[in-house]
Amino acid sequence: MYVVFRRPGTIRNIPGPPSPSWIFGHTLQLILPTRYGEHEFGWQKSYGAVYRLKDCFGQDRLMVADPAALHYIVNSPHFKFSPMLENLAYLLYGPKSLVSVPVEEHKSLRAALNVGFTAAAVRSYHSIFEKAASRLTEELHNSSSTTIDICPLLSFATLSTIGEAVLGQSPEELGEELIRNNLEIVAVAASHSRQQILAEAILSYLPAWLFRAAAHLPTPTLKTVRDAKRLAYELGNRIVQEKLVAARDGLDTDGDVFGVLLGMDGSGTTKNGLPGDVVAAQTALFLIAGQETTATTLVLGLRELSRLPEFQANLRSEIMANTGNIAYDSMPLLNSFIKESLRMFPILPIDDRIAREDTIIPLSEKITLSTGEEISQIVIEKGQIVSIAIAAFQRLESRWGKDAHEFNPNRWLQGSAYKGAEALGPYANLLSFLGGPHSCLGWRFAIFEMQIFICELVRQFSFALPEDDTVRIRLINTLTPMMSNGQKGAPLIVSRIS
Ligand code: HEM
Repeated sequence: MYVVFRRPGTIRNIPGPPSPSWIFGHTLQLILPTRYGEHEFGWQKSYGAVYRLKDCFGQDRLMVADPAALHYIVNSPHFKFSPMLENLAYLLYGPKSLVSVPVEEHKSLRAALNVGFTAAAVRSYHSIFEKAASRLTEELHNSSSTTIDICPLLSFATLSTIGEAVLGQSPEELGEELIRNNLEIVAVAASHSRQQILAEAILSYLPAWLFRAAAHLPTPTLKTVRDAKRLAYELGNRIVQEKLVAARDGLDTDGDVFGVLLGMDGSGTTKNGLPGDVVAAQTALFLIAGQETTATTLVLGLRELSRLPEFQANLRSEIMANTGNIAYDSMPLLNSFIKESLRMFPILPIDDRIAREDTIIPLSEKITLSTGEEISQIVIEKGQIVSIAIAAFQRLESRWGKDAHEFNPNRWLQGSAYKGAEALGPYANLLSFLGGPHSCLGWRFAIFEMQIFICELVRQFSFALPEDDTVRIRLINTLTPMMSNGQKGAPLIVSRIS
């Protein structure tokens, strides 16, 4: 063991594509291709599940889609968010949010927050999801056109469920300013340029205090982000004060996540001991983490459903046969469709980590270094950036079969979708919700919400792609459907089922 740790990191000898530029490395090909995966999936085919890329200014980045390596990275305390992610989390969510607190505090805060996201808690939000689904289908019924951009409708629907199920606030109570700012944040998140990539690369070299000071610069983007944080802070504090008063007055507050967290135990303190300001500090995180993630997964799934008329008809029959039954988990076509949507379109297809110390990553399959040596583990030096290549893992032919790049929900019906022993994420052996201590807190919430939305949508409407479909899926911070005019959007032909 000692000998292994004394060796220099093996990463410099790991093969990878030649870098096209010292300034940008492979970042433009990775982040700004016209279609997500255009280069990445090709590199994976040529170099395997682990290979080396160049970041801006000649820095090495290790791309990892090997299952054993991923299992190690997401669970190991030797890795943490990359400095860029850490700074962004601080900027967007503030220092007390679940994703910003130090690792020692994270476990207990997460356990406390989890009471609002257990299977039983999530089931209790059923009527909220149904109400949002009805509002959504009503909007589709009222639309004067049959070609409808479903992105803004689903974004609003998922914002309203977070508002009601997490915060106990109707869309009206969230306030016009917050809803408008939320749309701006979605638009900001859906824009990325060479200049931004370069600026982020430079910012990641800055010490945290300087990065955070730079956040006060008077640019329109930073103003939108600062406004989002302020509005969430004000909203969170107002809700917490109202709920604490209600709980002290002995009123039932259990209808939403914040209410559950702030309910009193009879002695005047909250049931799980969380102070009100800590609960309020999670507002921005829940509003952002729970909205576009779910909305875009649905949008991208519905686009694929539009290409599969036979599967769509069978799914509709399954839904019709189960009308009035809320046992969504026992609807095979519905769940295989959700799993396949998450497999093909993990909203966060690449998630960066940095090694906190020297460590060794195990591999499921050996790789050959440029020196000719075969290795079954990789020596990583402290400070190395490692990319959890979620989308690439979910398209590994060795694990998902020869048709790994195709959207085929039927693969889940045979029960043999994933060939491998490693248990990765919390759901269906996918990493779309990540895995390990930072895995998605809201994954059950998202699955239940998607089950209800899909049932309502597909029961009442059929979906088809417009003939002139020009939408491309791009990686712009997260996977994003982009129209030819450069705006986020996904028009579909939506017809009523008579
Ligand atoms: C399809 C929908 C969703 C997807 C694909 C998704 C995906 C993810 C991923 C990949 C992470 C890890 C990010 C990282 O560590 O870099 C994450 C974290 C998180 N998600 Fe989700 N998410 C979804 C929906 C939701 C919903 C609906 C909520 C809340 C209502 C939520 C709340 C959170 C929270 C609080 C974290 C931080 C967990 C922690 O750091 O301990 N997510 N999500």
